[in-house]
Amino acid sequence: MQLEELKQRAGNIVVEGHRQFNPGWHLALDLRNMLLVSECVAKAALIRTESRGGHTREDHPVMDADWRRQLLVCNVNAGGTGVDVTPKDQIPVRPDLLGLFEYTELAKYFTPGELADIPRRRADMGYKAKFKVWRGDKSGGDLQDFTVEVNEGEVVLDVIHRLQATQAPDMAVRWNCKAGKCGSCSAEINGRPRLLCMTRMSVFSEEETVTVTPMRTFPVIRDLVTDVSYNYEKAREVPAFAPPEGVAPGEYRMQQVDVERSQEFRKCIECFLCQEHLSRRP
Ligand code: SF4
Ligand code: FES
Repeated sequence: MQLEELKQRAGNIVVEGHRQFNPGWHLALDLRNMLLVSECVAKAALIRTESRGGHTREDHPVMDADWRRQLLVCNVNAGGTGVDVTPKDQIPVRPDLLGLFEYTELAKYFTPGELADIPRRRADMGYKAKFKVWRGDKSGGDLQDFTVEVNEGEVVLDVIHRLQATQAPDMAVRWNCKAGKCGSCSAEINGRPRLLCMTRMSVFSEEETVTVTPMRTFPVIRDLVTDVSYNYEKAREVPAFAPPEGVAPGEYRMQQVDVERSQEFRKCIECFLCQEHLSRRP
């Protein structure tokens, strides 16, 4: 009703001033379109018996998956005096595009009938893994059992973080980058030296118990954290480079082969897993 009144009043609109640099002139031209769009929105909102995004109805407060399959198409009517709203079927989403989404995400929007054709991937279901994690300090400790949720794409460090968040808030683990760059998350997984952040859970079967222990080569501080400070003490003992005597600043020339040699050492992330390997050799 209010829109009909506004439409009547819009017919009497007058603009003062020149056409140039006059925002009022453009608003007056746009007014008819704005009223048409308002009528579209209002009429469609009355038809759409659900709440979704910015469309909220107190009498239909929840989203209805059936409405996702319905479009409400607005057309200006024959006389150009208003709009007609017509329901039309939504174009189905291509299966290969659907496959890009997680099942649980699709389930929020799709009807059970539509979901029946979409294969449930392991990603969306997750699974419960059995973990043994060493807990203790330099005075001693033991393996502690956990059953913990695992989802697709996760690495062992994700699972350790989940244990911290849900079952063992005081579990000590060192990490910084979660990208295999900082070298701080070294530990043993099933008895092998590994980076926690670079060991994917997909390398283990769902039935396998994953055992996480601190590196054996270094003294334990607590749980999975070891004291690797010995390496830094040794690094400080390495003498700094000094050019040969008598060479003026800027005159020292380095051979490419020496540049390449040093690059090898610059790649080291100081995870100290190599020391784990070496110290365990028979
Ligand atoms: S050299 Fe040793 S400490 Fe450096 S990245 Fe390799 S395994 Fe880690
Ligand atoms: S957290 Fe940095 S290498 Fe694992």
